[in-house]
Amino acid sequence: MCGIIGYIGDRSVVPVLLYGLQRLEYRGYDSAGISVLDKDSGRIVVEKKVGKIKDLQEHLWDKKIKGCVGLGHSRWATHGEPTEVNAHPHTSHSGEFAVVHNGIIENFAKLKEELQAKGYQFKSDTDTEVIAHLFEDLYNGDILSTALEVAKRLEGAYAVGVISLKEPDKIIAIKKGSPIVIGLGKGENFLASDIPAVLEYTRDFIILDDGEVAVITKDSVDVYNLNGEKVEKKVLKVDWDTASAEKGGYKHFMQKEIHEQPKTIADTIAGFLSSIDEGLFETLKDTSRLYIIACGTSYHAGLVGKFWIEKFARIPVEVDYASEYRYRDRVIDDKTVVLGISQSGETADTRFALLDAKKEGAKTVALVNVVGSSLARESDYVLYTYCGPEIGVAATKTFTAQLTALLLLSLEAGLRKGSISPQFYQEAHKRLSDIPAKVEKILESEDFIKDLAYKYMNASDFLFLGRNLNYPIALEGALKLKEISYIHAEGYPAGEMKHGPIALIDEKLPVVCIAPRDRFYEKMVSNIQEVKARKGRIITVATDGDSDIKSLSEDTVYIPETEDYLYPILTAIPMQILSYHIASLLGKDVDQPRNLAKTVTVE
Ligand code: AGP
Repeated sequence: MCGIIGYIGDRSVVPVLLYGLQRLEYRGYDSAGISVLDKDSGRIVVEKKVGKIKDLQEHLWDKKIKGCVGLGHSRWATHGEPTEVNAHPHTSHSGEFAVVHNGIIENFAKLKEELQAKGYQFKSDTDTEVIAHLFEDLYNGDILSTALEVAKRLEGAYAVGVISLKEPDKIIAIKKGSPIVIGLGKGENFLASDIPAVLEYTRDFIILDDGEVAVITKDSVDVYNLNGEKVEKKVLKVDWDTASAEKGGYKHFMQKEIHEQPKTIADTIAGFLSSIDEGLFETLKDTSRLYIIACGTSYHAGLVGKFWIEKFARIPVEVDYASEYRYRDRVIDDKTVVLGISQSGETADTRFALLDAKKEGAKTVALVNVVGSSLARESDYVLYTYCGPEIGVAATKTFTAQLTALLLLSLEAGLRKGSISPQFYQEAHKRLSDIPAKVEKILESEDFIKDLAYKYMNASDFLFLGRNLNYPIALEGALKLKEISYIHAEGYPAGEMKHGPIALIDEKLPVVCIAPRDRFYEKMVSNIQEVKARKGRIITVATDGDSDIKSLSEDTVYIPETEDYLYPILTAIPMQILSYHIASLLGKDVDQPRNLAKTVTVE
């Protein structure tokens, strides 16, 4: 949830920390702070500010902090309100240790009591402060062995960065549960919650695993397990470009990411086909049941995936919210496969649910966007979406890439099982390869959809309806609108409307009806008639040339014709554009909506 950054080298550290924090701000943005080993004063200088990174930046403007070693943090509050005193970094009693932390220390209350009994005074309400005092309390002349002792005392999930006056030429990183990457430079090294924070400086990364402690100097990175034994780590080369972490002329990252979709869909097709793991398809051949688990937008992708996998691969699929799946009495045997979908690959609910299923004997598959993420490393098989970094909190390009990957998965499995013919497989690939151009065509309607956004932006509620494959797209349309515009919205299967939500309809309610010319078209038209009879304001998403539906609607957004099973990838796009422009016109903070974090690493 929070973002952490660290630097050790010869550069002036403050700009490096601020740059990294800006890249990490999407992980949390209610306060931010830095700590620097200040050359002039020989102290650890700590500066914090409630609000965004730009507030911290302004605050630092006239401060003359000189140093080449430091830590930074952007916070998403868990323990303690978003105040300056609760902002990270936190320092120990003597001020000799400074700590940044992402995660939750579950036993902090007990540790706090122990430390208070020894005379340590706490300034904040956070769980993190115990780590700073623990370092001071346990310091034995060697920061590595102290860190190992501290790690053994901490329960919960955490990524921790520590600097100290005791050993000023080192940064310590400890990882359990929450992510940490170490960026490798020449004569300098970096610590960060994720890769985009330091992409400007390096493409070479070490990804820490749970239960590892790293000692980082400007010229070396040594990683140890909790027994103090050295661990050999592979260097991961990342080919994401820095441009993907910039807005590139767009007003918001979300808008830019919406426009990247023709490319990210095409890249996901190419990436998927060039990295097929036959082992996975052998496993899928005789699986008895596939569970898909995910959260939020990734869950909606899973719902669409269920239709495709059941249709083309003839494997029974259940889709669950990861947070629910984890605590229910699911039935798992050695033929069960569990697929976790996650953009970040760090979502705690999804990770822990998948790990539990693995312990019970299921084979696990991850579909992730972030290379080297925890979910990818913890699963038996990994599939990727090829989107580069997604910065906007609202998932857009990764959603359509997840859909693309799930469709490809269903086709590959279907071909190998013989449930689809090679001819159908070829034809489906041909149709799918036309999708990026069709998405491009929909993007050309942005100005028209923006006008609709202007017309409907003052509505206090929205209803989104769809059937079959487009029902999850209705859910996704409602989620997108809610999370960035704060307008209440519901997504429903259109056929279910008459069983309750129809009572909501009046002349003020915009009802977005996803009604492409597929085999449910006539049924969808009947549902639209039902809305019309109750004077709802009907906005339809329809196939090019469908003039019948236009006459039933107040407004119609057209999308190109395609095969029935491909429509969800197209119908998702107007949902994204509409919610983006409503939120933007309402002046909302589109990329960093209130209360949200891009990566949710707490349960
Ligand atoms: C998407 O717009 C949301 N911000 C959110 O629902 C997100 O999809 C969810 O938190 C899951 O994240 P993940 O894909 O990184 O696991």
